[in-house]
Amino acid sequence: MTEKANAHIFVCTNKTEPECLGRMLFGTSKLYAADVLSVKSGDLLFLLNVNSDVLYGIFRAKSDGRQNIVPEAWKGKYPYQVEVEPIGNVQAVKDAKKALQKSGVEWHKPLSASMAERLLTSFSYEDSEYLKETKEKWGLLTPQKVNNRQTSFAKAIGELEEKPPFEATTLWDYPRQRYGKTPKGNNKYPGVTPAFIIWNMIQRYTEPGDLVLDPMCGSGTTADVCKEERREVICYDISPTRPDIMQNDSRKIPLPDNHVDMIFVDSPYGDNIRYNENLDCIGKISSETETFYEELDKVMSECHRVLKSGKVIGWLIGDQWVKKKFTPVGFKVYQRLSKYFETVDIICVVRRGQASHTGLWYNRARRFNFFLRGFKYLFIMRKPSEEPEKQEKRAVKWAFYERNRSKVNSS
Ligand SMILES: C[S@@+](CC[C@H](N)C(=O)[O-])C[C@H]1O[C@@H](n2cnc3c(N)ncnc32)[C@H](O)[C@@H]1O
Repeated sequence: MTEKANAHIFVCTNKTEPECLGRMLFGTSKLYAADVLSVKSGDLLFLLNVNSDVLYGIFRAKSDGRQNIVPEAWKGKYPYQVEVEPIGNVQAVKDAKKALQKSGVEWHKPLSASMAERLLTSFSYEDSEYLKETKEKWGLLTPQKVNNRQTSFAKAIGELEEKPPFEATTLWDYPRQRYGKTPKGNNKYPGVTPAFIIWNMIQRYTEPGDLVLDPMCGSGTTADVCKEERREVICYDISPTRPDIMQNDSRKIPLPDNHVDMIFVDSPYGDNIRYNENLDCIGKISSETETFYEELDKVMSECHRVLKSGKVIGWLIGDQWVKKKFTPVGFKVYQRLSKYFETVDIICVVRRGQASHTGLWYNRARRFNFFLRGFKYLFIMRKPSEEPEKQEKRAVKWAFYERNRSKVNSS
Protein backbone atom coordinates (compact mmCIF):
# COMPACT_ATOMS: atom_id res chain seq x y z
CA MET A 1 0.00 0.00 0.00
CA THR A 2 1.22 3.50 -0.77
CA GLU A 3 1.99 5.46 2.36
CA LYS A 4 -0.26 8.47 2.90
CA ALA A 5 1.19 11.93 2.53
CA ASN A 6 0.29 14.89 4.70
CA ALA A 7 0.06 18.54 3.73
CA HIS A 8 1.49 21.50 5.66
CA ILE A 9 1.73 25.27 5.31
CA PHE A 10 4.98 26.94 6.33
CA VAL A 11 5.05 30.65 7.02
CA CYS A 12 7.67 33.23 6.06
CA THR A 13 8.03 37.00 5.98
CA ASN A 14 9.61 39.36 3.42
CA LYS A 15 12.82 39.01 5.40
CA THR A 16 12.92 35.21 5.56
CA GLU A 17 11.44 34.41 2.13
CA PRO A 18 14.66 34.72 0.08
CA GLU A 19 16.38 32.08 2.18
CA CYS A 20 13.34 29.77 2.02
CA LEU A 21 13.23 29.86 -1.77
CA GLY A 22 16.98 30.29 -2.30
CA ARG A 23 17.96 27.35 -0.16
CA MET A 24 14.78 25.33 -0.84
CA LEU A 25 14.53 24.98 2.91
CA PHE A 26 11.58 25.81 5.17
CA GLY A 27 12.16 26.47 8.84
CA THR A 28 10.42 27.44 12.07
CA SER A 29 11.22 28.19 15.68
CA LYS A 30 10.76 25.80 18.61
CA LEU A 31 7.15 26.96 18.90
CA TYR A 32 6.21 24.79 15.91
CA ALA A 33 8.87 22.12 16.46
CA ALA A 34 6.33 19.32 16.86
CA ASP A 35 4.63 20.20 13.56
CA VAL A 36 7.92 20.33 11.65
CA LEU A 37 9.17 17.08 13.14
CA SER A 38 5.97 15.40 11.94
CA VAL A 39 6.77 16.29 8.28
CA LYS A 40 7.74 13.20 6.30
CA SER A 41 9.64 13.12 3.05
CA GLY A 42 7.05 13.23 0.24
CA ASP A 43 4.53 15.41 2.11
CA LEU A 44 2.92 18.30 0.22
CA LEU A 45 4.05 21.75 1.35
CA PHE A 46 3.04 25.37 0.76
CA LEU A 47 4.82 28.56 1.79
CA LEU A 48 2.82 31.59 2.94
CA ASN A 49 4.46 35.01 3.02
CA VAL A 50 2.39 36.82 5.64
CA ASN A 51 3.79 40.25 4.68
CA SER A 52 3.16 40.15 0.93
CA ASP A 53 0.10 37.86 1.29
CA VAL A 54 1.43 35.44 -1.32
CA LEU A 55 1.12 31.67 -1.16
CA TYR A 56 3.86 29.73 -2.94
CA GLY A 57 3.38 26.19 -4.11
CA ILE A 58 3.46 23.41 -4.73
CA PHE A 59 6.40 21.86 -2.91
CA ARG A 60 7.24 18.37 -1.83
CA ALA A 61 9.25 17.59 1.29
CA LYS A 62 12.61 16.20 0.19
CA SER A 63 13.62 15.26 3.73
CA ASP A 64 11.82 14.47 6.96
CA GLY A 65 11.46 17.45 9.29
CA ARG A 66 14.61 17.68 11.43
CA GLN A 67 16.54 20.01 13.64
CA ASN A 68 19.41 22.04 12.13
CA ILE A 69 19.56 20.64 8.59
CA VAL A 70 21.33 23.89 7.70
CA PRO A 71 22.37 25.32 11.09
CA GLU A 72 23.42 28.71 9.70
CA ALA A 73 20.14 29.35 7.83
CA TRP A 74 18.26 32.44 9.13
CA LYS A 75 21.21 32.92 11.52
CA GLY A 76 20.03 29.92 13.53
CA LYS A 77 16.65 31.52 14.39
CA TYR A 78 14.55 28.79 12.76
CA PRO A 79 16.29 25.51 13.52
CA TYR A 80 13.33 23.15 12.88
CA GLN A 81 13.67 22.61 9.17
CA VAL A 82 12.70 20.57 6.14
CA GLU A 83 14.36 20.40 2.75
CA VAL A 84 11.89 20.96 -0.09
CA GLU A 85 11.67 20.64 -3.86
CA PRO A 86 9.15 22.33 -6.13
CA ILE A 87 6.62 20.28 -8.00
CA GLY A 88 6.92 21.89 -11.44
CA ASN A 89 7.49 25.64 -11.50
CA VAL A 90 6.98 27.49 -8.26
CA GLN A 91 3.70 29.39 -8.58
CA ALA A 92 2.66 32.41 -6.53
CA VAL A 93 -0.97 32.88 -5.55
CA LYS A 94 -1.78 36.50 -4.65
CA ASP A 95 -4.41 37.43 -2.04
CA ALA A 96 -3.33 34.29 -0.29
CA LYS A 97 -5.33 34.81 2.86
CA LYS A 98 -8.52 35.03 0.78
CA ALA A 99 -7.58 31.83 -1.08
CA LEU A 100 -6.91 30.14 2.23
CA GLN A 101 -10.18 31.34 3.66
CA LYS A 102 -12.00 30.03 0.60
CA SER A 103 -10.41 26.65 1.19
CA GLY A 104 -11.40 26.74 4.85
CA VAL A 105 -7.75 26.90 5.92
CA GLU A 106 -6.48 28.70 8.99
CA TRP A 107 -2.78 28.82 8.28
CA HIS A 108 -1.68 28.43 11.87
CA LYS A 109 -3.72 25.24 12.25
CA PRO A 110 -3.07 21.76 10.79
CA LEU A 111 -4.13 21.23 7.20
CA SER A 112 -6.68 18.48 6.66
CA ALA A 113 -6.86 16.43 3.46
CA SER A 114 -9.98 18.16 2.22
CA MET A 115 -8.48 21.61 2.93
CA ALA A 116 -5.29 20.69 1.05
CA GLU A 117 -7.34 19.41 -1.83
CA ARG A 118 -9.33 22.64 -2.08
CA LEU A 119 -6.15 24.67 -1.74
CA LEU A 120 -4.56 22.83 -4.65
CA THR A 121 -7.26 24.18 -6.94
CA SER A 122 -5.61 27.64 -6.53
CA PHE A 123 -2.62 26.27 -8.45
CA SER A 124 -2.56 25.12 -12.05
CA TYR A 125 -1.13 21.79 -11.08
CA GLU A 126 -2.64 19.90 -13.99
CA ASP A 127 0.18 21.27 -16.18
CA SER A 128 2.86 20.07 -13.89
CA GLU A 129 4.58 16.88 -14.97
CA TYR A 130 6.14 16.62 -11.59
CA LEU A 131 2.86 16.66 -9.75
CA LYS A 132 1.41 14.18 -12.20
CA GLU A 133 4.35 11.98 -11.40
CA THR A 134 3.79 12.44 -7.70
CA LYS A 135 0.13 11.79 -7.99
CA GLU A 136 0.78 8.72 -10.08
CA LYS A 137 3.10 7.56 -7.35
CA TRP A 138 0.23 7.99 -4.97
CA GLY A 139 -2.03 6.08 -7.35
CA LEU A 140 -4.12 9.16 -8.10
CA LEU A 141 -4.19 9.32 -11.86
CA THR A 142 -5.00 5.75 -12.66
CA PRO A 143 -7.78 5.94 -15.28
CA GLN A 144 -10.50 4.72 -12.98
CA LYS A 145 -9.63 7.45 -10.52
CA VAL A 146 -9.33 10.42 -12.88
CA ASN A 147 -13.07 11.09 -12.84
CA ASN A 148 -13.13 10.87 -9.14
CA ARG A 149 -10.03 12.92 -8.44
CA GLN A 150 -11.51 14.83 -5.54
CA THR A 151 -12.04 11.79 -3.37
CA SER A 152 -8.88 10.01 -4.41
CA PHE A 153 -6.80 13.05 -3.46
CA ALA A 154 -8.48 13.25 -0.09
CA LYS A 155 -7.62 9.62 0.45
CA ALA A 156 -4.01 10.10 -0.54
CA ILE A 157 -3.40 13.02 1.75
CA GLY A 158 -3.82 11.68 5.23
CA GLU A 159 -5.51 13.75 7.89
CA LEU A 160 -2.79 15.40 9.96
CA GLU A 161 -2.18 13.85 13.32
CA GLU A 162 -3.81 16.17 15.83
CA LYS A 163 -1.37 17.83 18.21
CA PRO A 164 -2.22 19.55 21.49
CA PRO A 165 -2.22 23.34 21.79
CA PHE A 166 1.18 24.75 22.74
CA GLU A 167 0.14 26.48 25.97
CA ALA A 168 0.92 30.16 26.49
CA THR A 169 -0.80 30.86 29.82
CA THR A 170 -0.77 29.28 33.28
CA LEU A 171 -4.31 27.91 32.93
CA TRP A 172 -4.56 24.57 31.12
CA ASP A 173 -7.88 22.91 30.40
CA TYR A 174 -8.35 19.67 28.47
CA PRO A 175 -11.72 18.12 27.73
CA ARG A 176 -10.13 14.75 26.93
CA GLN A 177 -7.31 12.60 28.26
CA ARG A 178 -5.62 12.00 24.94
CA TYR A 179 -5.02 13.58 21.55
CA GLY A 180 -4.21 12.07 18.17
CA LYS A 181 -5.04 8.70 16.75
CA THR A 182 -3.15 6.44 19.13
CA PRO A 183 -3.85 5.90 22.84
CA LYS A 184 -1.60 7.69 25.32
CA GLY A 185 -1.56 5.59 28.48
CA ASN A 186 -4.87 4.03 29.38
CA ASN A 187 -7.76 6.39 29.97
CA LYS A 188 -9.43 3.76 32.17
CA TYR A 189 -6.48 3.73 34.59
CA PRO A 190 -7.41 5.36 37.90
CA GLY A 191 -5.78 8.78 38.06
CA VAL A 192 -4.47 8.69 34.47
CA THR A 193 -2.71 11.92 33.44
CA PRO A 194 -4.04 14.04 30.54
CA ALA A 195 -1.48 13.43 27.78
CA PHE A 196 -1.65 17.12 26.79
CA ILE A 197 0.20 18.09 30.00
CA ILE A 198 3.15 15.81 29.29
CA TRP A 199 3.25 16.92 25.64
CA ASN A 200 3.50 20.58 26.70
CA MET A 201 6.20 19.81 29.26
CA ILE A 202 8.41 17.98 26.80
CA GLN A 203 7.89 20.54 24.04
CA ARG A 204 9.05 23.31 26.32
CA TYR A 205 11.82 21.68 28.28
CA THR A 206 13.36 18.99 26.08
CA GLU A 207 14.70 18.43 22.58
CA PRO A 208 14.25 15.33 20.43
CA GLY A 209 16.60 12.61 21.68
CA ASP A 210 16.60 13.90 25.30
CA LEU A 211 16.01 11.43 28.12
CA VAL A 212 12.80 11.80 30.13
CA LEU A 213 12.05 9.95 33.39
CA ASP A 214 8.66 9.16 34.92
CA PRO A 215 9.23 7.34 38.25
CA MET A 216 5.48 6.77 38.90
CA CYS A 217 4.31 6.06 35.39
CA GLY A 218 0.97 4.27 36.03
CA SER A 219 -0.55 3.31 32.70
CA GLY A 220 2.36 4.72 30.65
CA THR A 221 1.09 8.08 29.36
CA THR A 222 4.58 9.60 29.60
CA ALA A 223 6.05 6.65 27.69
CA ASP A 224 3.60 6.99 24.82
CA VAL A 225 3.89 10.77 24.48
CA CYS A 226 7.69 10.65 24.61
CA LYS A 227 8.01 7.88 22.05
CA GLU A 228 5.75 9.69 19.59
CA GLU A 229 7.75 12.92 20.06
CA ARG A 230 11.07 11.10 19.64
CA ARG A 231 12.28 11.48 23.20
CA GLU A 232 14.05 8.68 25.03
CA VAL A 233 12.11 7.62 28.10
CA ILE A 234 12.57 5.58 31.29
CA CYS A 235 9.42 4.60 33.17
CA TYR A 236 9.00 2.97 36.58
CA ASP A 237 6.04 2.15 38.77
CA ILE A 238 5.61 0.21 41.99
CA SER A 239 3.09 -1.96 40.13
CA PRO A 240 3.85 -1.92 36.39
CA THR A 241 0.93 -2.18 34.01
CA ARG A 242 2.90 -3.07 30.85
CA PRO A 243 6.32 -4.41 29.79
CA ASP A 244 7.96 -1.05 28.98
CA ILE A 245 7.39 0.10 32.59
CA MET A 246 9.92 -1.29 35.06
CA GLN A 247 9.04 -2.32 38.60
CA ASN A 248 10.66 0.06 41.06
CA ASP A 249 9.94 1.94 44.24
CA SER A 250 10.62 5.56 43.34
CA ARG A 251 12.09 6.29 46.75
CA LYS A 252 15.26 4.69 45.32
CA ILE A 253 15.80 5.24 41.62
CA PRO A 254 18.37 2.91 39.97
CA LEU A 255 20.00 5.59 37.82
CA PRO A 256 23.32 7.47 38.15
CA ASP A 257 23.51 11.08 39.35
CA ASN A 258 22.83 13.88 36.83
CA HIS A 259 21.50 11.47 34.23
CA VAL A 260 18.13 12.62 32.86
CA ASP A 261 17.00 15.73 30.96
CA MET A 262 13.49 16.04 32.36
CA ILE A 263 11.27 14.34 34.94
CA PHE A 264 7.51 14.18 35.00
CA VAL A 265 5.68 12.97 38.13
CA ASP A 266 1.95 12.60 38.67
CA SER A 267 2.14 11.18 42.19
CA PRO A 268 -0.74 9.90 44.33
CA TYR A 269 -2.58 12.80 46.00
CA GLY A 270 -3.23 10.77 49.16
CA ASP A 271 -5.17 7.56 49.69
CA ASN A 272 -8.21 8.65 47.63
CA ILE A 273 -7.52 6.19 44.76
CA ARG A 274 -6.79 2.49 44.95
CA TYR A 275 -4.06 2.01 42.37
CA ASN A 276 -2.92 -1.51 43.26
CA GLU A 277 -2.37 -3.89 46.13
CA ASN A 278 1.37 -3.26 46.57
CA LEU A 279 2.06 -2.34 50.20
CA ASP A 280 4.78 0.11 49.12
CA CYS A 281 2.33 2.15 47.06
CA ILE A 282 2.43 5.69 48.44
CA GLY A 283 -1.20 5.95 47.40
CA LYS A 284 -2.06 3.93 50.52
CA ILE A 285 -0.94 6.73 52.85
CA SER A 286 -3.37 9.50 53.81
CA SER A 287 -2.35 13.01 52.78
CA GLU A 288 -3.64 14.12 56.19
CA THR A 289 -0.54 12.53 57.76
CA GLU A 290 3.03 13.85 57.70
CA THR A 291 4.22 10.39 56.61
CA PHE A 292 2.72 10.98 53.16
CA TYR A 293 4.91 14.06 52.61
CA GLU A 294 7.97 12.38 54.14
CA GLU A 295 7.66 9.50 51.67
CA LEU A 296 7.16 11.87 48.72
CA ASP A 297 10.18 13.81 49.98
CA LYS A 298 12.31 10.69 49.40
CA VAL A 299 11.05 10.56 45.80
CA MET A 300 11.91 14.26 45.37
CA SER A 301 15.40 13.74 46.75
CA GLU A 302 16.01 10.92 44.26
CA CYS A 303 14.58 12.98 41.40
CA HIS A 304 16.94 15.78 42.35
CA ARG A 305 19.91 13.40 42.33
CA VAL A 306 19.25 11.86 38.90
CA LEU A 307 18.20 15.09 37.15
CA LYS A 308 20.89 17.04 35.32
CA SER A 309 21.66 20.48 36.71
CA GLY A 310 19.63 23.26 35.15
CA LYS A 311 16.95 20.79 33.97
CA VAL A 312 13.26 20.70 34.82
CA ILE A 313 10.85 18.51 36.79
CA GLY A 314 7.05 18.81 36.47
CA TRP A 315 5.02 17.58 39.47
CA LEU A 316 1.25 17.28 39.19
CA ILE A 317 -0.74 17.27 42.44
CA GLY A 318 -4.21 18.18 43.74
CA ASP A 319 -5.66 19.20 47.10
CA GLN A 320 -8.06 17.11 49.15
CA TRP A 321 -11.44 17.76 50.74
CA VAL A 322 -12.72 14.69 52.47
CA LYS A 323 -15.21 14.32 55.30
CA LYS A 324 -15.49 18.06 55.87
CA LYS A 325 -11.73 18.45 56.07
CA PHE A 326 -9.59 20.41 53.62
CA THR A 327 -5.94 19.40 53.17
CA PRO A 328 -3.73 21.72 51.11
CA VAL A 329 -1.77 18.84 49.58
CA GLY A 330 -0.49 21.09 46.79
CA PHE A 331 1.06 23.67 49.11
CA LYS A 332 2.62 20.98 51.27
CA VAL A 333 4.15 19.22 48.28
CA TYR A 334 5.36 22.54 46.89
CA GLN A 335 7.04 23.35 50.21
CA ARG A 336 8.98 20.07 50.03
CA LEU A 337 9.86 20.50 46.35
CA SER A 338 11.24 23.96 47.12
CA LYS A 339 13.90 22.39 49.34
CA TYR A 340 15.49 20.82 46.26
CA PHE A 341 14.43 22.90 43.29
CA GLU A 342 13.85 26.48 42.26
CA THR A 343 10.45 27.44 40.87
CA VAL A 344 10.04 28.03 37.16
CA ASP A 345 6.26 28.50 37.27
CA ILE A 346 3.02 27.11 38.65
CA ILE A 347 0.28 25.95 36.28
CA CYS A 348 -3.36 25.49 37.17
CA VAL A 349 -4.81 22.45 35.39
CA VAL A 350 -8.59 22.19 35.29
CA ARG A 351 -9.78 18.92 36.87
CA ARG A 352 -12.19 17.10 34.59
CA GLY A 353 -13.63 13.62 34.45
CA GLN A 354 -13.81 13.41 38.26
CA ALA A 355 -16.23 10.92 39.79
CA SER A 356 -17.61 13.81 41.86
CA HIS A 357 -18.38 15.97 38.84
CA THR A 358 -22.05 15.01 38.72
CA GLY A 359 -25.27 16.92 39.29
CA LEU A 360 -25.72 15.14 42.61
CA TRP A 361 -22.33 16.30 43.95
CA TYR A 362 -22.76 19.84 42.59
CA ASN A 363 -26.01 19.97 44.49
CA ARG A 364 -24.42 18.66 47.69
CA ALA A 365 -21.55 21.13 47.39
CA ARG A 366 -24.05 24.01 47.30
CA ARG A 367 -26.38 22.68 49.98
CA PHE A 368 -23.69 21.69 52.47
CA ASN A 369 -21.44 24.65 51.74
CA PHE A 370 -18.26 23.08 50.42
CA PHE A 371 -16.42 23.15 47.11
CA LEU A 372 -15.61 20.34 44.74
CA ARG A 373 -11.99 20.25 43.60
CA GLY A 374 -11.83 22.20 40.33
CA PHE A 375 -8.09 22.24 39.61
CA LYS A 376 -4.69 20.65 40.17
CA TYR A 377 -1.28 22.22 40.40
CA LEU A 378 1.50 21.53 37.99
CA PHE A 379 4.67 22.67 39.73
CA ILE A 380 7.42 23.34 37.21
CA MET A 381 10.73 23.33 39.08
CA ARG A 382 14.37 23.47 38.03
CA LYS A 383 17.42 21.82 39.56
CA PRO A 384 19.73 24.77 40.19
CA SER A 385 22.68 25.06 37.83
CA GLU A 386 26.07 24.28 39.27
CA GLU A 387 27.60 27.26 37.50
CA PRO A 388 26.65 30.63 38.96
CA GLU A 389 24.34 32.39 36.53
CA LYS A 390 25.91 35.20 34.57
CA GLN A 391 24.30 38.46 35.62
CA GLU A 392 23.62 40.27 32.38
CA LYS A 393 23.87 44.01 32.56
CA ARG A 394 20.40 45.44 32.14
CA ALA A 395 20.10 48.67 30.31
CA VAL A 396 17.08 50.26 31.96
CA LYS A 397 14.89 52.27 29.64
CA TRP A 398 12.61 54.63 31.52
CA ALA A 399 9.29 55.54 29.99
CA PHE A 400 7.92 58.94 30.97
CA TYR A 401 4.21 59.48 30.86
CA GLU A 402 2.63 62.90 30.79
CA ARG A 403 0.51 63.29 33.90
CA ASN A 404 -2.87 64.87 33.52
CA ARG A 405 -2.67 67.14 36.57
CA SER A 406 -6.23 68.44 36.45
CA LYS A 407 -7.53 64.83 36.54
CA VAL A 408 -5.19 63.86 39.39
CA ASN A 409 -6.21 66.87 41.45
CA SER A 410 -9.91 66.40 40.93
CA SER A 411 -9.92 62.70 41.90
C1 LIG B 1 -1.54 9.29 39.52
S1 LIG B 1 -0.88 7.73 39.15
C2 LIG B 1 0.11 8.04 37.74
C3 LIG B 1 -0.70 8.07 36.49
C4 LIG B 1 0.13 8.02 35.23
N1 LIG B 1 0.86 9.24 35.00
C5 LIG B 1 -0.74 7.70 34.04
O1 LIG B 1 -0.98 8.58 33.20
O2 LIG B 1 -1.26 6.58 33.97
C6 LIG B 1 0.30 7.48 40.44
C7 LIG B 1 1.13 6.23 40.29
O3 LIG B 1 2.11 6.19 41.34
C8 LIG B 1 2.42 4.84 41.53
N2 LIG B 1 3.17 4.69 42.81
C9 LIG B 1 2.70 4.82 44.06
N3 LIG B 1 3.69 4.61 44.95
C10 LIG B 1 4.80 4.36 44.24
C11 LIG B 1 6.15 4.09 44.59
N4 LIG B 1 6.54 4.00 45.85
N5 LIG B 1 7.06 3.92 43.60
C12 LIG B 1 6.67 3.98 42.28
N6 LIG B 1 5.41 4.22 41.91
C13 LIG B 1 4.49 4.42 42.87
C14 LIG B 1 1.07 4.15 41.53
O4 LIG B 1 1.18 2.78 41.28
C15 LIG B 1 0.36 4.93 40.41
O5 LIG B 1 0.47 4.22 39.20
